[in-house]
Amino acid sequence: MAILVTGGAGYIGSVTVERLRAKGEQVVVLDDLKRGHPAALAGDIPVYRGNIGDRELVARIAREHDLESCIHFAALIEVGESVKDPAKYFENNVGHGISFLGALVQLGMHRIVFSSTAATYGDPEQIPITEQSRKSPKNPYGWSKLFMEQVLDSYDTAYGLKFVALRYFNAAGATDKCGEDHRPESHLIPNVLSAALGLQQAIRVFGNNYPTPDGTPIRDYIHVADLADAHILALDHLRRGGSSDFLNLGTGRGYSVLEVIQCAREITGKEIPIQMEPPRAGDPARLVADPSKAKAVLGWEPRMSDLPSIVRSAWKWRLRHQQGYTAE
Ligand SMILES: NC(=O)c1ccc[n+]([C@@H]2O[C@H](COP(=O)([O-])OP(=O)(O)OC[C@H]3O[C@@H](n4cnc5c(N)ncnc54)[C@H](O)[C@@H]3O)[C@@H](O)[C@H]2O)c1
Repeated sequence: MAILVTGGAGYIGSVTVERLRAKGEQVVVLDDLKRGHPAALAGDIPVYRGNIGDRELVARIAREHDLESCIHFAALIEVGESVKDPAKYFENNVGHGISFLGALVQLGMHRIVFSSTAATYGDPEQIPITEQSRKSPKNPYGWSKLFMEQVLDSYDTAYGLKFVALRYFNAAGATDKCGEDHRPESHLIPNVLSAALGLQQAIRVFGNNYPTPDGTPIRDYIHVADLADAHILALDHLRRGGSSDFLNLGTGRGYSVLEVIQCAREITGKEIPIQMEPPRAGDPARLVADPSKAKAVLGWEPRMSDLPSIVRSAWKWRLRHQQGYTAE
């Protein structure tokens, strides 16, 4: 029986596929490849190139493979782009997402692990953020994920579709095979490494007057392999008949932008110049998870998520893929 992984050619999806296969699981990928990279996937993995909202295609995949569960990564993920073009985000993440869930329900699927995000919380009232914290997204991307969480909750009640919605904080790092190559890239660590490689002149730092010790925003970085393992544990939880849930995935420890840059300077041995920019609208000072619920429910423990391990793994991958996947 196979696991359907949507967005499996993307950053977190490809690492999860890699780790599922290492555990002997059968995997089928559905990805439109608009932002994903076929080179991130082993050549013998069945990949269907298409849209999650194409119900005919989902039904065909189900006919050709014996699907037992789904991990649903496919979404557009750029906060800034979602502010400029909310229709694109609502149509893709929610519109196509709902068609996709409808197709799964019609096929009698009972288990799904969903990629949600810390962006559902918005600017938090308290740190660390628990699953009970107020949900108040600050951009269409965050709303699209919160809305999908609500749809899942309703489908569980009505149709028995059991789910685990995983609210990731900042995914980072790489495995030997798979790394981060978003286009456009808005995430800090790959951009810091581009500056280290001289591919961009400097790393832009947005604001240094936040109420944090060095004035730059603090985020909770989680190694992509630790994230991937949490999906596998979430699937096992559902296979054991566990109930639907919402879980934070973070470490509970945050690092400032300047701490990340300093760590990258030490690991790469490069100077990495900084260019100060005004703060970005809606960027909270601090986003740090309380991950205790995921630890209790799944028995999950991040193992590779200390900052030096994250940056070292990302640097190692980047040295072998300086221009990302397509230049191979
Ligand atoms: N990267 C992070 O730090 C982070 C943090 C929180 C949540 N998330 C969530 O994790 C998931 C994966 O993120 P990522 O960083 O791997 O992104 P990514 O862009 O690398 O991967 C997403 C993949 O989904 C595909 N896709 C998008 N819309 C599709 C559609 N309608 N039909 C078929 N395929 C489609 C893209 O082509 C891409 O391959 C997303 O749902 C994202 O919202 C990511």
